[in-house]
Amino acid sequence: MARIKVVINADIGKGKINRNIYGQFAEHLGRCIYEGIWVGEDSPIGNTDGMRNDVLAALKNLNIPVLRWPGGCFADEYHWKDGIGPKENRKRMVNTHWGGVVENNHFGTHEFFRLCELLDAEPYICGNVGSGTVQEMSEWVEYMTFDGESPMAGWRQENGREEPWKLKYFGVGNENWGCGGNMRPEYYADLYRRYQTYVRNYGDNRIYRIAGGANIDDYRWTEVLMREAGHLMDGLSLHYYTIPGSWEEKRHALGFDEAGWFETMKKSYYMDELITRHSGIMDRYDPDKRVGLIIDEWGTWFLVEPGSNPGFLYQQNTVRDALVAALHLHIFHNHNDRVQMTNIAQMVNVLQAMILTEGPRMVLTPTYHVFEMFKVHQDAELLDFNACCGTYSLDGESLPQVSVSASRDASGSIHITMCNIDPNHEAVIQVDIRGTELPAVSSGVILAGQHMEDHNDFQQPDKVKPESFDGFRVDGSALTVTLPPMSVALIKL
Ligand code: AHR
Repeated sequence: MARIKVVINADIGKGKINRNIYGQFAEHLGRCIYEGIWVGEDSPIGNTDGMRNDVLAALKNLNIPVLRWPGGCFADEYHWKDGIGPKENRKRMVNTHWGGVVENNHFGTHEFFRLCELLDAEPYICGNVGSGTVQEMSEWVEYMTFDGESPMAGWRQENGREEPWKLKYFGVGNENWGCGGNMRPEYYADLYRRYQTYVRNYGDNRIYRIAGGANIDDYRWTEVLMREAGHLMDGLSLHYYTIPGSWEEKRHALGFDEAGWFETMKKSYYMDELITRHSGIMDRYDPDKRVGLIIDEWGTWFLVEPGSNPGFLYQQNTVRDALVAALHLHIFHNHNDRVQMTNIAQMVNVLQAMILTEGPRMVLTPTYHVFEMFKVHQDAELLDFNACCGTYSLDGESLPQVSVSASRDASGSIHITMCNIDPNHEAVIQVDIRGTELPAVSSGVILAGQHMEDHNDFQQPDKVKPESFDGFRVDGSALTVTLPPMSVALIKL
């Protein structure tokens, strides 16, 4: 087997890996908010102010930097005033977009900020352009952030919150080319200009305004938005899901063959091309890269689990998802000059979730474990390395077998993450680390599968979990790593 060679230049920094790349997304969709996070103060499930303690503790461990809410498509149907005040008076509503279920609005603005406080995450709120008014959006911002006497600040105080909250990230609509109003980019660009005018900075609160961005390879959307409104935004979003099969004919999260595995990896690598091309357009209007590319929805999208509500998007999560997460995070690191935030979809019980729940029980998915392992990269300096890495082939098509990223944290430790997407062959990687003395002590962690469909469920919650890893050797400035098939590893030097 050919050795894969990598050179890491530890003395050449490539910029900070923005911790917001590790952001999450929680929508009023299926069992993400209700059941997954919110169970209510009276629930027999242990909770803090209505939010389940087991899920909170697991999420806290991920150091989530930023959390997007309330949607998604839900955002453009959400009327925030229905979700404040005494719970018994809150209007019940139909979640028309997701399953047509009735929600009691017990999780609203105050509960969201409390969740962010408990997780120590920055709130990222997505406002309603599709079916909401400018006044409604403007009053929401006033309600949350106005310090002093004003109608909305007074109302907030009546509802128990004296001080304004700090709100940094605000999205002006979601998928306005689709569920957020079926608009043309020219029309949305004008609406964006108008709505964002009234997303005001009160006191010392400074809002980072995010415009609704393109779907996948809709480069015209990015072009028009940057041309017409680039100077009025701080960030522009992009949505891309990894969907084996097609949008119309999705595949199962379990019960796939190697062709399904390969296609999923190939579609994950496609994220790199998408970022490169959207960034290229942004570069023409914003060569200094002031405007961030905000990939506020990404991840796998499979068929729902048999027997579950089709509108709830509940899917299992295998070692395949772990590889998808690792590949994406590495790609985001490499584009840290333009990508300022990403939010995987979604945090609990929906799409490529961190956590699955069933009544009082909870399991951590393989994707959770990748986020846990990779959190060492948050805000660390990305290190220069040469592109690599081997070949994984199937039916005449090839992909890079191994993906690598390295960073140096504030304490000087170097962390290298690697993944081997080949489900059949190990990878032997020789890493030449230049520009630093390697320490005497090193350690490793690995997440690996025996079978492509390995996953955690309520019968076997720990089938896929990080183990200590000793499949590497440090010799002078050379690190030799043997990565098993379908694995993700973290080495600390
Ligand atoms: O994450 C699920 C849905 O996917 C979101 O609501 C929407 O924005 C996207 O189409």
